[in-house]
Amino acid sequence: MVKLIKSTQELISARAQEKGSTGFVPTMGNLHAGHISLLERALADCDVVYFSIFVNPKQFGPTEDFKEYPRTLERDLELIKSCLNKYSGKSVIVFAPENPEEVFPSSDDQTIVVTNFNNIIEGKLRPNHFDGVATVVFKLFQIVKPHKAYFGLKDYQQYLVIRQMVKELAMPIEIIGMPIIRESNGLALSSRNQYLSENQKEEALILSRTLTKIAQTIAGKKANLLKAKKEIESILSDTRWNYLEIRDAYSLSEDLTNSSRITLVAVFQLGSTRLLDNMQQEIE
Ligand code: PAF
Repeated sequence: MVKLIKSTQELISARAQEKGSTGFVPTMGNLHAGHISLLERALADCDVVYFSIFVNPKQFGPTEDFKEYPRTLERDLELIKSCLNKYSGKSVIVFAPENPEEVFPSSDDQTIVVTNFNNIIEGKLRPNHFDGVATVVFKLFQIVKPHKAYFGLKDYQQYLVIRQMVKELAMPIEIIGMPIIRESNGLALSSRNQYLSENQKEEALILSRTLTKIAQTIAGKKANLLKAKKEIESILSDTRWNYLEIRDAYSLSEDLTNSSRITLVAVFQLGSTRLLDNMQQEIE
């Protein structure tokens, strides 16, 4: 059964009746196969899955696409229903508040200020973005009180921010990071891909292909990092890259001296659409 709830109070009451294990998949809607992979894992793990669809104003900058962000609730509900058909005896409660006041009732509401993992890479280019993400996720966690919560690793820095928040604030929630889902041509799925024209979709393939090529240069060896960094230097002469960097996969530090695992992190921009991707590997 899929139940749609639009009010925070109603959700809190429904949750209070729940006895079994509870999974939570927070999203901003306009669902694709990446979101559905999170739902499938949550349904496999838990008795009941809470699934939020809320375009969070706090994580958008003043010139970003909050107003244009696609809102496709009817279609999203159909996708959730057809996914649930494969899991008999399970249920999904969709929390889809109609307006921001349902989640943030006061203009003076409290904010989570992210310290670790903020002000670098994506956080440096999008001031307040991770504070906005952490604040809404904290609030949704308070409302849903899940045992497990599922996040896509495409937003890798976001995943680290949330994991850190849960640890620092001693929230009893297991954070599960799920692999990036890609088109067969390598393009990482994202709700924002639909902003791309046909030509831009072709151009966008540069992103995953470049990451794959640099990962091949590194080939699991610290000794190859210098060569990979030189390769990146020449790639960055193309101004469509907002950034393309090699970082430690656990700390996001630039210092890779003691790293055992690295992540390539990148944003490639086509028009006003920023495409985010990452690729990781062990190194020795
Ligand atoms: O990854 C997203 O879709 C959003 O950042 C999230 C986690 C739902 C918070 O609004």
